[in-house]
Amino acid sequence: MRISIVGSGYVGLVTGACLAEMGNDVLCVDTDASKIRLLSAGSIPIYEPGLPELVERNSAAGRLRFTTDFASSIAHGLIIFIAVGTPAAEDGSADLQHVLAVADKVGSLLTDYRVIVNKSTVPVGTADRVQAQIGMRLSERGVQTRFAVASNPEFLKEGAAIDDFMRPDRVVIGSEDDEAISLLRSLYAPFTRNHDRLHVMDVRSAELTKYAANAMLATRISFVNDLARLAEKVGADIELVRRGIGSDRRIGTHFLYAGAGYGGSCFPKDVRALVHTGREYGIDLEVLTAVDRVNHRQKRILADKVVSRFGEQLNGRTLAIWGLAFKPETDDMREAPSLVVLEELVKRGARVQAYDPIAATAAQRLVAHLSGVNFVSDRMRAVEGADALLVMTEWREFRSPELTALKKLLRSPIIFDGRNLFEPSTMAAGGFEYYAVGRGD
Ligand code: UGA
Repeated sequence: MRISIVGSGYVGLVTGACLAEMGNDVLCVDTDASKIRLLSAGSIPIYEPGLPELVERNSAAGRLRFTTDFASSIAHGLIIFIAVGTPAAEDGSADLQHVLAVADKVGSLLTDYRVIVNKSTVPVGTADRVQAQIGMRLSERGVQTRFAVASNPEFLKEGAAIDDFMRPDRVVIGSEDDEAISLLRSLYAPFTRNHDRLHVMDVRSAELTKYAANAMLATRISFVNDLARLAEKVGADIELVRRGIGSDRRIGTHFLYAGAGYGGSCFPKDVRALVHTGREYGIDLEVLTAVDRVNHRQKRILADKVVSRFGEQLNGRTLAIWGLAFKPETDDMREAPSLVVLEELVKRGARVQAYDPIAATAAQRLVAHLSGVNFVSDRMRAVEGADALLVMTEWREFRSPELTALKKLLRSPIIFDGRNLFEPSTMAAGGFEYYAVGRGD
């Protein structure tokens, strides 16, 4: 099938590469000429395991091409995906200017039937606005053609995006146009084999499904983080509690890990956007308001623990940080808890030695205003002479550290673990003072 993808960011690129891999003829369009030049030359502007190989293979086969020419992409694709950014506006709502600008251009160029599919995360009602915008341009031009606007939200996780796309838990299609539904069904058939993973619904339900999924997962995390505070006080271990409740199939063990809070480009933004949508309709989404508040507090947790151990003033202290990205297998620093902790430590006079396998460059840009942060290229160099080690991201290389070497390099054997990577008993046996989240005071 001929497919066009508008927006060659994270979602657009992964979608384009995976659809091409299944034999579709995919044309990706973006207004950023330097990005398109890079992609056409085979280099990938983001870090995502498996993506470079996929792009290279399908580009070589001629099934995946990149352009800045919007008109040719409208002519090319029978299905046109909109995968442009929806950043948060000042008030927490999703800024739709890029999505609506694409709708406007589509309306100015369309000549015959196309399915326009919203893949960007957009508030309920956006498909109707896209439909109206295209319709308005068509009537201005006096062009009479049928077209459909569908919603097909994305559920990819950074770092596991290719696998998530290729083997999805579900594909959600929101549309009331039979031809669009049948085209999208056949497009996704190879990914969902038998169609039981494909959920066809009206557009508004599809749009809300996307937010509801992220909001539910964020709620689980804030719930367990809140309980972790209590576990510390009553002398319980949140890890054991997680396993204890997770064995109930109605609850499950996933996304119940206590830690330094959730970050990334999706959970924080989507929770706030949903609260905002609620307000627009006069509904106070109280649970989600608390989820956001708990997460704000949680991002500071390691800094707070450092302060209770060392005192309010951290002048003369050197602290090591392992992991800066908001999660492993990505260089994405958006809303990363490490940023909050860095800011707090430096404000109190500490010097920081930070290490991340791939996110250091992105982090360096974001904390350029802070003095006293030194980025090092090796995890062991980060701990040299430090008063304590803070673990912010659960990269695999941090999971089995050489404890004797670690102890020798640290000025004092103290670890603040924001991802509960280690067993408190092992740490105690190794002679470490160990502070985790929800696992004893
Ligand atoms: C999230 C969703 O998981 C995807 O399904 C969705 O498609 C995506 O947002 C999106 O809307 O585009 P992502 O932001 O890539 O994916 O990252 P996650 O793996 O979900 O992690 C989010 C954050 O939650 C991380 O900071 C992680 O450390 C934290 N987390 C996760 C916890 O603190 N505890 C957990 O138990 C799980």
